[in-house]
Amino acid sequence: MADKLIIFDTTLRDGEQSPGASMTRDEKLRIARQLERLKVDVIEAGFAASSNGDFEAVKAIANAIKESTVCSLARANDRDIARAAEALVGAQRSRIHTFIATSALHMEKKLRMTPDEVFEQARLSVRFARNLCGDIEFSPEDGYRSDVDFLCRVLETVIAEGATTINVPDTVGYAVPELYGSFIRTLRERIPNSDKAIWSVHCHNDLGMAVANSLAGVKIGGARQVECTINGLGERAGNTSLEEIVMAVKTRRDYYGLEVGVDATQIVPASRMVSQTTGFVVQPNKAVVGANAFAHASGIHQDGVLKARDTYEIMRAEDVGWGSNKIVLGKLSGRNAFKQRLQELGIQFDSEGEINAAFARFKDLADRKSEIFDEDILALVGDESVTREHEFYRLLSLSQHSETGERPQATVVFAAGEVEHSAESDGNGPVDASLKAIESKVGSDAELVLYSVNAITSGSTESQGEVTVRLQHGGRVVNGVGADPDIVVASAKAYLAALNKLHSNLDRVAAQG
Ligand code: KIV
Ligand code: ZN
Repeated sequence: MADKLIIFDTTLRDGEQSPGASMTRDEKLRIARQLERLKVDVIEAGFAASSNGDFEAVKAIANAIKESTVCSLARANDRDIARAAEALVGAQRSRIHTFIATSALHMEKKLRMTPDEVFEQARLSVRFARNLCGDIEFSPEDGYRSDVDFLCRVLETVIAEGATTINVPDTVGYAVPELYGSFIRTLRERIPNSDKAIWSVHCHNDLGMAVANSLAGVKIGGARQVECTINGLGERAGNTSLEEIVMAVKTRRDYYGLEVGVDATQIVPASRMVSQTTGFVVQPNKAVVGANAFAHASGIHQDGVLKARDTYEIMRAEDVGWGSNKIVLGKLSGRNAFKQRLQELGIQFDSEGEINAAFARFKDLADRKSEIFDEDILALVGDESVTREHEFYRLLSLSQHSETGERPQATVVFAAGEVEHSAESDGNGPVDASLKAIESKVGSDAELVLYSVNAITSGSTESQGEVTVRLQHGGRVVNGVGADPDIVVASAKAYLAALNKLHSNLDRVAAQG
C-alpha cells in the first residue's frame, strides 16, 4: 500500500490573512463544508484567539464538520491554546496548531526573546496543549531560515512533549526546491525521535516556488503532510496551491508513489466558491482551475485532442470538476427544486425564512436571465450571507443614463440601516457615476484600490457580471463582491458590500504579526 499524503487546507486561516480576503462566519462555514466534500484531511478553520469572530467561526466549523479534522492556530502561549481548545470542543476530530518563531531574526527583532526563552516557551506550550488535545501540530515560524542546530533542539523537545505533527514553514517564501527538500531530510535524520511525528511542509509563494518546494519537501525530505490553500490564496504571493499539489501527486503517481484522499471532482467547485467569496479572481492560465487550463485554442492541438485526447491532455477536465457548468434551473423551477439544488451544492441555511429570501432573489434573477447555472446560485447565495450578517447598506434601486457624447448620470437609492438615501451623480462612465453617487452620501473616504468585472459563466453576454471592489481605509483592506446581469448594478452592490465590511468589525490579530 502506498503511503498517504495528508492534505491540510489552510484557506480559512493563512489564506484568509491575505488583505481583503477576510470572511464572515457563514462564508467560512460554507467553504468548510465544501472542503469536507473535497475530502481534505485537515481543515485549519482559523485562529480562535485572534478575534471573537474567528473564535465563533472555528466553533461553528468544529460543530458542523464530521469527516475532516478541524484545526485552530494558536500562538505558543496558554491563553491562545486554551481558546483554541474551547473553540474546538464540538469537533469529532480536533487539532491544535501552535507556533513560535525560531529564526534569529524573528526571535531578536520581532519577539525580543532569547533562544533559550523561545525553547522554553515552545516546550511548555506543547505540554499544555497536549493536555487539552491528542493531536498537536507545532510550527517553528520562519523555520527554514532558522539555525539548524537550534531547530533540531526545539523540535526534538516538542516531539518528546507530545507534538504529533511537525510543520516546517518557509514563512517568507525564500526556499528553493532542492535545498528545502534537503533541509527537511536533515531535520528528520538528525532528530532522534523524528519518527514519532508526521512531517509537514508549509511554503509561501514569493518566488513562485511554493508548490515545487512543497513537493521537494515530500520527495526529498519525506514529509507526509502538505499545507496548502484553494487557488493558492494567501498573503503576498500566496500559499502552496492545493489543486496543483493534489493533481501533481495524482497525475505523477508513478513518481511520487503516494495516495491522496481528496475527491478531485470537487476542486473546481471549491475554487469557484473561494474566488466568489473572497473576490480574488483566478487567473485564466492558472494550472488546473484557470478558465484556460483545458482550453485548446491552436488548430494543431484541437485536432490532436479530437483524435486522441492524451496527445495534449495529461488530466481530464471532468476529473477536476470542470463541466459542471450546466443549466440547472430556470424561471419555472419551483422552491423545492431550488432547495434541492442548494442541498446538492452543500449550501445550508439556518431557517426556512432564509431559504425563502434566497428563493425570492432566485426568482428575480430567473425573470431576467433564462438559464441559471450553479455559479449563479453560488453568487446569489453569497449575496444572501452578506445580507444576513453585515448588511447595513442595501441597494434598493439604481437608474442611470448614458449616451454617446453625454456625461453619464446615475441615481442610486439605498438603505443605510433604517434610513433610505437617494443620491445622484455624474461620472466618467455609468459605474463611476453610481459609485460617486453612493459615496456622496456615505462619505467613507475609502480609497478604491481594485475594480474588476468577470462573467460568472463563460460564453454568453447573457451571463451575470461579477464585480469585485477593493477598498482601503485606515490600514484596512476589504473586498466586496456583487453579481447581477447588469454590471452597473453589480458594481453598486459590490461597492456597498465592501462598505458593509468596512462598517462591520472583522479585525483580528495577524498570525505573523
Ligand atoms: O507561514 C507561516 O509561518 C505560518 C505559521 C503560522 C505556520 O503560517
Ligand atoms: Zn504561512
